[in-house]
Amino acid sequence: MAPAQNEPTRPHSPSYDLTGKRVVVVGGKTGIGLGIAQAAHAAGASVTVASRRSAPAADHPELTPFEQITLDISDEEAVRAAFETIGSLDHLLVVAGPTDGSWGAFMDKDMRGVRSYADSKFLGSWACARYAHPRLAADGSITFLTGGIAARSKFGMTAVTSTFAAVEALARSLALELGPIRVNAIRPGFIDTDLWNFLSKTDAADVREKVRANFPARRIGRPADVGHAAVFLMTNPYVTGTVLEVSGGEQLVDWQF
Ligand SMILES: NC(=O)c1ccc[n+]([C@@H]2O[C@H](COP(=O)([O-])OP(=O)(O)OC[C@H]3O[C@@H](n4cnc5c(N)ncnc54)[C@H](OP(=O)(O)O)[C@@H]3O)[C@@H](O)[C@H]2O)c1
Repeated sequence: MAPAQNEPTRPHSPSYDLTGKRVVVVGGKTGIGLGIAQAAHAAGASVTVASRRSAPAADHPELTPFEQITLDISDEEAVRAAFETIGSLDHLLVVAGPTDGSWGAFMDKDMRGVRSYADSKFLGSWACARYAHPRLAADGSITFLTGGIAARSKFGMTAVTSTFAAVEALARSLALELGPIRVNAIRPGFIDTDLWNFLSKTDAADVREKVRANFPARRIGRPADVGHAAVFLMTNPYVTGTVLEVSGGEQLVDWQF
């Protein structure tokens, strides 16, 4: 087919290179977000990490390569001010979300748990996209972070399942609304971060063994696995409105932890 008017005639060969790009990872000081920040930095980007904690690089050498911003995503005014300070950017990744188990159950005596969870994870993702959008490059991208529980509910986790599903719907809807900026979500499986520290050593070892025995990839995920996927979504110019699962094949097998 002949190229349409204004369409580049040169063959386009996407690469994983982020040299000269500015990447902002909200929730990028620990865990999966840090894995994404490190992968983006290794691909050549200058990276800003944002979250509530202030983590002096002297005490956190892993954060030395990054510019740091302090930000609570459940505070819209703080999000607006943070993106005003950040200025122009190429890629936004919103990884942050409560990981302290405070989302509550469906029949709790009130709805404080789910309100606060959705306020942070869903509306926080919305707010970051909302205030970053006017400053995003036209060939840039937004990537949200959900989890396997979006696709497979777990008893007592209705707030998380519903919120993650809403974030994935947000990605699809914004892909349509903000194009040509690309918008996607990554849905990780069981990734080795401090989120799992609530498990006893014995339970953690048990989960690892179950994952090794059952998951097609035969191991627990690492933040770097998600980082690699995030660099793909930032650099591929034609993927938008998708949910990319990075789970070692978790959804293909029957397993419970
Ligand atoms: N690890 C897994 O197996 C897994 C699986 C599925 C989904 N997930 C999801 O992946 C995301 C990252 O989790 P993780 O495993 O990497 O655990 P993590 O290290 O505890 O990451 C959570 C991050 O979110 C930030 N955060 C939390 N609330 C925030 C707020 N209100 N404003 C700004 N930043 C906030 C935290 O930083 P501050 O405390 O400094 O604010 C922290 O950096 C979470 O949404 C989690 O539910 C994880």
